[in-house]
Amino acid sequence: VTLLIGVAFLSYLLGSVPFGLVLTALSGQGDIRQIGSGNIGATNVLRTGNKKLAALTLFLDGFKGAFAVLVAWVMTPPELGDRAMAVAAIFAVVGHCYPVWLGFRGGKGVATGLGVVLAMSPVVGLACCLIWLVGAKITRISSAGALLAFACMPLMLFFLYGHSFTQSQKPLAGLFIALVVILRHGANIARLLKGTEPRIGQSGK
Ligand code: G3P
Repeated sequence: VTLLIGVAFLSYLLGSVPFGLVLTALSGQGDIRQIGSGNIGATNVLRTGNKKLAALTLFLDGFKGAFAVLVAWVMTPPELGDRAMAVAAIFAVVGHCYPVWLGFRGGKGVATGLGVVLAMSPVVGLACCLIWLVGAKITRISSAGALLAFACMPLMLFFLYGHSFTQSQKPLAGLFIALVVILRHGANIARLLKGTEPRIGQSGK
């Protein structure tokens, strides 16, 4: 249990590094929270017009999630591995969405969520990335692709690992992460329903 608490703490810290905020500030573009949707994620960094910065934010936000899960896997004994990965995945996403440094007002968990799922289950992770990209490409709306990917993600994890709950906690972690991501998209969902959600690269609300 002590080991799992350590994993949770470390993963939260890793997840809570707000790369979008730091990179935009470092590149002299000011506070990302004052731009577009106000979100600290890659989609909003793209609204600064700097594609490279957005891509780097997407990569680093995803990488910190994957890294947290892989560290948990490597640092715990095999019998704890699956549980440790699930705990790391949950806390990395919670760290990104509710970072203590930003008064618990962080991102929406898409890149970090994709990162943790890629590390927990590369097949499901790749499928989610594909659904997100295709969904976003067709609708030209990043949040629409993300919501579709995260709605499918727990279903895919349940399908692959759901037969043995005592063996794998991945489906439950996936379900929790999907709920957090969808919850964080409340304003996006409201705009999608009204038809006012901006297309990729548009200035945002
Ligand atoms: O990456 C989060 C995305 O799904 C929505 O971002 O800035 O349009 O609220 P944003």
